[in-house]
Amino acid sequence: MRFKLTVLPGDGVGPEVAREAVRILWALSQFSDCEFVCEEKPVGGAAIRAHGTPLPESTLESCRKSDAVFLGAVGAPEFDHLPTQQKPEAGLLALRAALGGFANLRPAVSFPAIAECSPLQRSRVEGSDILFVRELLGGLYFAQPRGFDAESESAFNTMRYSTKEVERVARIAFEQARERRKKVTSVDKANVLETSQLWRRTVTRIAHEYPDVKLEHMYVDSCAMHLITSPARFDVVLTENLFGDILSDEGAVITGSLGMLASASIGGAVDLYEPVHGSAPDIAGQGIANPLGAIFSVAMMLRLSAGMQDEAADLEAAVRQVLDDGFCTADLARPGKQVVSTVEMGELVEQRFVGMLDRRYSYHAV
Ligand code: IPM
Ligand code: MN
Repeated sequence: MRFKLTVLPGDGVGPEVAREAVRILWALSQFSDCEFVCEEKPVGGAAIRAHGTPLPESTLESCRKSDAVFLGAVGAPEFDHLPTQQKPEAGLLALRAALGGFANLRPAVSFPAIAECSPLQRSRVEGSDILFVRELLGGLYFAQPRGFDAESESAFNTMRYSTKEVERVARIAFEQARERRKKVTSVDKANVLETSQLWRRTVTRIAHEYPDVKLEHMYVDSCAMHLITSPARFDVVLTENLFGDILSDEGAVITGSLGMLASASIGGAVDLYEPVHGSAPDIAGQGIANPLGAIFSVAMMLRLSAGMQDEAADLEAAVRQVLDDGFCTADLARPGKQVVSTVEMGELVEQRFVGMLDRRYSYHAV
C-alpha cells in the first residue's frame, strides 16, 4: 500500500514539529507494508515569502492529490499588518475550505505523568478525556457579509448556519461518542442567538438516530466554567466554529500544555491533520517546541485516514511511555522531570514506537 501525504511545515515552530511527525512515518514505513510518500509544500508566511501568496496553487494541487495532509502551523508577526485575506492564516482557512473537512476533532486528555503541569488540581483533571468536535467551515469564520464599512468606523461579521451544516457535524460527534463513553454535550448560546436555536433544534433531532448516545445541551459560558471546575464530566463536546476555537484552547489547560493537542479535520475530500498549538514565534528556531501535538496528530491520521488502528494505538502508547519515564519538553518542565529538545523527544517516541512495531510485526528493521 502507498499512502501519499502532503506535508506543509508552515511557520514558526511548524517545521520543527513537522520533522518529528515525518520521522514517525518514516519509522513506520520500515515495518509495515505501507509506504508513506511525503511531499513538502509551502503554506502561510513561508509561502508568502516564496510565492507572494499564503496558499499557492501548487500547494493546493498537491494536497488535493493526497491521501491526507499534515500541517505544522501558520502565522508570523511580520505579516500582521497585511489585510485579513493576505495574512498567513488566510492560507490555512482557504486550505480547510478547499479540502472540505467540516468536522475538526480535538482531543484533550489528562495524562497521569504530566497531570502536575495543569494549573488545576490533579484530583480535578484526573480521568479527563474530552473530544471536542468543532464545526470548521461555517459560522463567523466564513459567512458573508463581512468587512469594514467605507470609513472603517464599523466592522461586521456574520454568524450563519444552515441545517445541513449542523446535521453533518452532529452526526460525526454522535458517531465518535459511540466509540467512546456515549455522551455528547452540545454547546451553544441558544438563549441569545438564532443560529444557536437552529443548532440546538437540529442536534436534538439528529440525536434520535443515536438512541444509545446521551445528549445534553449547555450554554457556552457555562461550558467554559464546567471545563475548569469538572472536566471529567465531559465526553464529546460538539460546538460551532468560534466557540470550538476558544473552548479547545481552554481544553489545553486540562492536558497541561497547548503543545500536547492534536487535531483532525475530517468529512471532506482530503483529511487534514495539524497540532493545535500554532506557530509560537516566540520559541521558534530554538529546538524546544513540544512535538507531541504533531505526533498525536499522526496517530489520528493513522487511525482515521490510513486504517491503521493498531499502529495508532502503539504510537499513543509510545508517547505515554516516554512521559511515564519522566521525559518532557520545556513547556512541561517540573522538578524531577528530564527536559529534552524537540528532536530528542521525537527520537524517544520513535525508539519506543519501533520497539512496539517490532513486536507487532515480529521481524527486525534493517
Ligand atoms: C486554530 C487556530 C486557527 C483558527 C487560526 C490560526 C486561523 O487558532 O486552529 O485553532 O482560528 O481556527
Ligand atoms: Mn485556535
